[in-house]
Amino acid sequence: MVIDFSKVPSPSYIVDERLLIKNLEVLKSVEERTGAHILLAQKAFSMYSTFPLIGKYLSGVTSSSLFEARLGYEEMGKEVHIYAAAYREDEFDEIMKYCGHIVFNSCEEWEKYRSRIQSADHPISCGIRINPEYAEVKTDLYNPCFTGSRMGTTLANFKPESLEGIEGLHFHAMCEQNSDTLERILKVVEEKFGKFLYQMKWINFGGGHHITRTDYDIEKLVECIMHFKNKYDLEVYLEPGEAVALDAGYLVSTVLTTMTNGIDIAILDTSAACHMPDVLEMPYRPRIIGAGKAGEKAYTYRLGSQTCLSGDIIGDYSFDQRLRREID
Ligand SMILES: Cc1ncc(COP(=O)(O)O)c(C=O)c1O
Repeated sequence: MVIDFSKVPSPSYIVDERLLIKNLEVLKSVEERTGAHILLAQKAFSMYSTFPLIGKYLSGVTSSSLFEARLGYEEMGKEVHIYAAAYREDEFDEIMKYCGHIVFNSCEEWEKYRSRIQSADHPISCGIRINPEYAEVKTDLYNPCFTGSRMGTTLANFKPESLEGIEGLHFHAMCEQNSDTLERILKVVEEKFGKFLYQMKWINFGGGHHITRTDYDIEKLVECIMHFKNKYDLEVYLEPGEAVALDAGYLVSTVLTTMTNGIDIAILDTSAACHMPDVLEMPYRPRIIGAGKAGEKAYTYRLGSQTCLSGDIIGDYSFDQRLRREID
């Protein structure tokens, strides 16, 4: 079935369930081949109407706040993991209620909450987020390993004497990357933290794995997982977000009006700041069906939003025909 974009409300996000399932099947095949557990990172994709479907393929969710944890618990009902750079004391009892795995940012955070974990009414498996201080992410905004980062515990700050009760190590050092990057990061993780892995039950490789991209090397990922499972006798978790929903949908938008100020400008009913913040933050350029780079096709426009934020610009694109206002 072809989607008729003119029939849907504008703006709207459309998830094509067929494309989502295609991604989920790839992820499930990795789980089946390796025995690894793949979690949905809800920060990347939290359209919870799809959670029952996702739960048929993946092991559960990971979350980064109380309410994400609650969302995953209530809407998917499978494993719920959480990591945050720090927890609020007044939220911790409720976090414990929803989560089977809690990852602490430092040994100090673990020591602070250890007794509350031990008196919880269900078993909670705890881990420490380590910072391997090695990443290949060029944009600092998305690089958890830049100098002075607060994300995780470096080897210098790691306190082996406070590991009693800790069952796992977690790292997250990737962003939209292939398994060759993972392989290099794992080497560093092993060099720095390998001796602690023998006493752990699990390791979490974090997110940033672009597993559902067509050029992704799944064989290398399988090798990496099996190496850790076999050498250290560990359960392996991965928590991709973007890879779950990658290229599985569309953002539908309408040209509200056009104007000229040295360049033709089209004003849309969608906003980079509100509907696609990564476009400004990363920055990156969304793909538009039928459009080319500026100057490539006959008519070039700067696509901007109806908001009053001057820099709320999606980018410059060219089209075969003039863009028309909604009323034309
Ligand atoms: C701790 C952690 N896990 C998982 C993810 C998901 O990453 P991605 O959506 O790039 O796979 C992130 C993203 O920031 C993260 O910080």
